[in-house]
Amino acid sequence: MRIQFNLIIRTLIPLAVSGFMTGAIAADERVSPEQLVAEMNQRIAAITQSSASNGIMPRFNQAKSLGCFAATFKVHDGIAKEFKQGLFAQPESYRALLRFANASEQDDTKKDIRGLSIKVFDVKGDPLWGEIGVQDFLLNSYPALFVATPEEFLDFIRARQEDKITGFFINPLNPHLKSLWILFKARAVHSNPFAIRYWSTTPFRHGSDDGTAVKYSVTPCAGKSVSVEGVAGENQLRSAMKQHISQASACLEFGVQKRTDPEAMPIEDASVIWDEADSPFVTLATITIEDQDFDTDDALAACEKVSFNPWQSLPEHKPLGRMNEVRRETYFKASQLRNKEAP
Ligand code: HEM
Repeated sequence: MRIQFNLIIRTLIPLAVSGFMTGAIAADERVSPEQLVAEMNQRIAAITQSSASNGIMPRFNQAKSLGCFAATFKVHDGIAKEFKQGLFAQPESYRALLRFANASEQDDTKKDIRGLSIKVFDVKGDPLWGEIGVQDFLLNSYPALFVATPEEFLDFIRARQEDKITGFFINPLNPHLKSLWILFKARAVHSNPFAIRYWSTTPFRHGSDDGTAVKYSVTPCAGKSVSVEGVAGENQLRSAMKQHISQASACLEFGVQKRTDPEAMPIEDASVIWDEADSPFVTLATITIEDQDFDTDDALAACEKVSFNPWQSLPEHKPLGRMNEVRRETYFKASQLRNKEAP
């Protein structure tokens, strides 16, 4: 064991010091928030453009669309008063659109983080940004993000653009070993995107001021699992979802986790999991997906075009923290570029 460890250290450190080193930023060289967003946008645009092929410009993150689904988003009756906020103020059944995706792999058999983006329609009230009547939620299949701050995310984007990802993790001047550990745990082989949990990882307001913060999670409904058999190959997750809804509707619960301990549940560190033992998720809505043709060429092409933004939100669900702040412009610019609306 000791020999193996020594071998790893002897191999990785020279690699990091030599060709794999990224342009790591020391703490005192931090850029202003405006510079940070501008650099992110410019690098995300370059990465997005360079990954275009066959007439498709895939998203910078959650690049492979597994499918987009029409759904119902039913806000429960009898929600506790403190959670009856914004979209959840009244029991109501809304039309919704769900997009499931692979973060970085085109081949569904490989380990990856899966994404779930939700758009709820016909919502009353003016949003903070974007289209009237729409509320978006964005979630990943792991409860923590692999980086803590937007500065760390920018370091990663720099490394990705310069093809020096290894250096991002093990650069001795600025190592990101926690990021490596989170990705090690978060990337997994999944067999059915309707059967796994998703988390927002970043916090959102739940009410009329920033005093109440929550994270979101979407969980498969208890007792409604469907066994999917015989799927294989690079599109096996799409096949699994098709088989699932042809047997029974897919059922997911939307829940919020209240921030009850400011120290243990930080707003400004997206890499920290808020402990469910301290504050369990409370279910506020049920999402139902009926059988539908989501995998035709036309449906998949439409799924490529749709755009989500955490700021497409009622004020009661305002995105909180600096990580979320950055996302308003980066998602908007990335979506404009993908849809070729950019000047
Ligand atoms: C500074 C932090 C972040 C940046 C710069 C960033 C950037 C991006 C970009 C540029 C896209 C593509 C948008 C498009 O082309 O329409 C994207 C997609 C996405 N991101 Fe992030 N992201 C960040 C944090 C997060 C976090 C915390 C989550 C947590 C769940 C997340 C989940 C997603 C999902 C689910 C999508 C797919 C959206 C879709 O279905 O169109 N991202 N991200």
